[in-house]
Amino acid sequence: MSVLVTGGAGYIGSHVVRLLQQRGERVVVVDDLSNGRAQRVGDAPVVQVDLGTDAAAGALASAFAEHDVDAVIHFAARKQVGESVAKPARYWAQNVGGTANLLQAMEDAGVGKLVFSSSAATYGAPATALVREDGPAEPINPYGQTKLVGEWMSRAAGVAWGLRAANLRYFNVAGAGWSDLGDAAVMNLIPIVFRALDEGRAPVVFGDDYPTPDGSCIRDYVHVLDLARAHLAALDHLAADERPFDTFNVGSGSGSSVFEVLRVVREVTGVDVQPDVRERRAGDPPQLVADVSRINDTLGWSTTKDLTDIVASAWEAWRA
Ligand code: WQD
Repeated sequence: MSVLVTGGAGYIGSHVVRLLQQRGERVVVVDDLSNGRAQRVGDAPVVQVDLGTDAAAGALASAFAEHDVDAVIHFAARKQVGESVAKPARYWAQNVGGTANLLQAMEDAGVGKLVFSSSAATYGAPATALVREDGPAEPINPYGQTKLVGEWMSRAAGVAWGLRAANLRYFNVAGAGWSDLGDAAVMNLIPIVFRALDEGRAPVVFGDDYPTPDGSCIRDYVHVLDLARAHLAALDHLAADERPFDTFNVGSGSGSSVFEVLRVVREVTGVDVQPDVRERRAGDPPQLVADVSRINDTLGWSTTKDLTDIVASAWEAWRA
């Protein structure tokens, strides 16, 4: 199989690229290298283009033809919730515009399979303990909105011209499958805590008065290598003629609080982490945990790594 991976030089994308290479697939990466790094993708060719620009159509058409592409995995997008609130137009242009350009190029080239990076941010602030794919999706920020629209776009392409798509709704992704592929950005809890430790500061906990057992927010942390495996399972699923579902939660199915994450960081690093409890952060749902029965049953996928594996691998990559 020949797979084109947009955003393949990024944190999650590069893990999927490496797994595909290990499985013997041919891979071509499309990345604007704004956050990605070409050295993450080994010997895969990199087409440097921003999917949100007019240059995308021609670059994709050439890549599809030259590499005889069978399927696309689409990561390339902006992914910071706060930035999306401050600069919504940028998110609509990049995430929705980029996906529109990609889908048009796929239709033109007759490339009919897509795995799309969606997000648990599509759920907004759910009322239930575990969220299911068929429950309400009411995103509360432009980032989550653009991801939900991306799912609609792939579904519409399915109706219009037969695209076969799988939308993967990622929960809180962390860790590293290989130390050279760690998350270089410091945007999420675990790298933020590591940076605080490096700088000798107490990590900030946003709120300890939530209606949860220890008062801090609960999230579903998934190891990036488990997440990457889910993409290969989704690719295989697209080959099946009868596909009952197109949208899948990718999480562990169990939640960890911020204080629990800090406890594991303390165990892994040996540093006596003392939290600095502050006000709640705007827009944080108290709890966001995946119901994973659909992906377990349909793709035969489940997590193999726990929170300690996640924090330990993230710490090793951070040190490297
Ligand atoms: C995790 C928990 C914070 C920083 C976002 C997106 C989601 C997905 C993952 C892409 C929360 C708390 C954090 C800190 C803290 N991204 N926290 N102190 O907001 O759950 O999810 O990233 O798709 O869509 O919404 O992730 O890592 O920012 O926070 O206490 O310094 O850690 O309040 O409870 P979040 P996060």
